[in-house]
Amino acid sequence: MNKRIFLYGIIILITLGCNNNHSTSSSAVVTGHPEATKIGTKVLELGGNAIDASVAVQLALSVCLPSAGNIGGGGFMIYRTFSGEKYALDFREMAPLAAKENMYLDGNGVVIDSLSTYGSLSIGIPGTIDGIFQAHEKFGSIGIDTLFNFAIELAFNGFPITETQANRLNHYQNDFKKFNPNNNYLQKKWEKNDTLKQKDLANTLTIIRDKGRAGFYEGEVAENIIKTIKKNGIISLEDLKNYTSIWRTPIEFAFDEYNVISMPPPSSGGVALGQLFMMLSNFEIQNITHNSMEYIHLLSEIEKRVYVDRSIHLGDDDYFSVPIKKLMSRNYNQQVASQINLSKVTTIDTVSNKTLNESEETTHFSILDQYGNGVAVTTTLNTNYGSKVFVNDGGFLLNNEMDDFSIKPGTPNTYGLIGSEANKIEAGKRMLSSMTPTILEKNNELFLVLGTPGGSTIITSVFQTILNTTLFKMNIKAAVDAPRFHHQWKPNKIYMEEDLYQSSKELIKKLNEIGHIIQQRTSIGHVNAIMTKQDKLSIGADKRGDNDGKLIKH
Ligand code: DON
Repeated sequence: MNKRIFLYGIIILITLGCNNNHSTSSSAVVTGHPEATKIGTKVLELGGNAIDASVAVQLALSVCLPSAGNIGGGGFMIYRTFSGEKYALDFREMAPLAAKENMYLDGNGVVIDSLSTYGSLSIGIPGTIDGIFQAHEKFGSIGIDTLFNFAIELAFNGFPITETQANRLNHYQNDFKKFNPNNNYLQKKWEKNDTLKQKDLANTLTIIRDKGRAGFYEGEVAENIIKTIKKNGIISLEDLKNYTSIWRTPIEFAFDEYNVISMPPPSSGGVALGQLFMMLSNFEIQNITHNSMEYIHLLSEIEKRVYVDRSIHLGDDDYFSVPIKKLMSRNYNQQVASQINLSKVTTIDTVSNKTLNESEETTHFSILDQYGNGVAVTTTLNTNYGSKVFVNDGGFLLNNEMDDFSIKPGTPNTYGLIGSEANKIEAGKRMLSSMTPTILEKNNELFLVLGTPGGSTIITSVFQTILNTTLFKMNIKAAVDAPRFHHQWKPNKIYMEEDLYQSSKELIKKLNEIGHIIQQRTSIGHVNAIMTKQDKLSIGADKRGDNDGKLIKH
């Protein structure tokens, strides 16, 4: 047995003896792809802790889920130790030093189509590798070489792609050609079960394994990034070298008997989730029926108001003073909630100018180890395959996260989200996110680990899934699979999953009668979650997509 693991085990045993918090004889991992779940399982079976498994899973996803898993993107992590300590790690991308407020506008101040979503100029400085090393340095127990080796092998030997992946890869062939004139990476007609081998990526991961953080942010890999994007891009070697992920204080708030731990700015997730619950607590909901007209109306009216605040007040707190105290105060949220009319829609603004993108490009995984440590990680390239730019000889994609900035006040981004001063582009700033990795405690013990992709719908999916488990007492699988709906203020409509939309003509009619416009969507989010009840773990891998979970007995 590895010496560090052995020592870790001893420390855990001693600490457990002096602590009321539990460990369990099982562990669990739920991810967006079966290959990543397999690797997470192996690490947990080896005795690794949740952070070890999260490092291996994040690297595995960069191989087996290239549309969202990444080393060229960024994300957020919420971590709760078995003894109840809480951490938030921000490995969000940063705007390059040469970034300017008006960089996506023409001389007349008009937004240039697709410049913030495709190609070299849409790329933020990637944070994933720095995040991995920071998390592992602080909490890892298995040598990082071992954790990298799983992903390196997967990239080198390949794996069978799923049907969803084959369709997705085929769908983006034209974009791959357009944005990679000197590189035909992943360009072919794909079929289900084709083996995806990625030798260049295996090589890049090997360099990072051997050289550490500098293996990505300096030297050969960094130079390949700069060479690839040099024609139109503005990221420099200095930008890469200076990137740093940041440990932040999580957002925490109480809801009934639960304590919710979530992501602070530059994600809007934690604050928005707090506001949703605080507004909701002003209403009598104990006997409300799940997904009834009353429930959908109340939640939509609350959601709408929270997204108004998001668009005005949320941004990178290191650059813009976000009024977190006010937004998270019971008084303020009560005041806003008091404007809700329970029998009809209140129109805050009728402007509606962008429909939502339907695809699920980000990915979320949840892990709970046998020692009782829980971790929730949401990671992304932003939209599917990010900027569509592959690093020449590197075998990996770069993000298009710059579009999450407010590229012009009032102009909606890919997800229809509107921003303002708080989220304007500035050199070195982090773009506002909706990613909401979240952990819940009940009686000071871990109760739920969850999160989801889905752009602007992430926050409301996490909100509704938590309500499914707490208010409606659903088991975790039912809670994750239950149909969802979403309102984000603009456009002024409720997006509703087709199962729910089709379930009752009467429901839609009643919602229309009180003023709601409803738009059907095939699916909203992919929630991946783990629940503990009396030390018994259960997993919820969303039925939407290729999600996969595993419960491990030790
Ligand atoms: O950080 C954000 O909020 C977005 N870049 C996340 C994108 C996303 O979830 C895409 N999946 N549908």
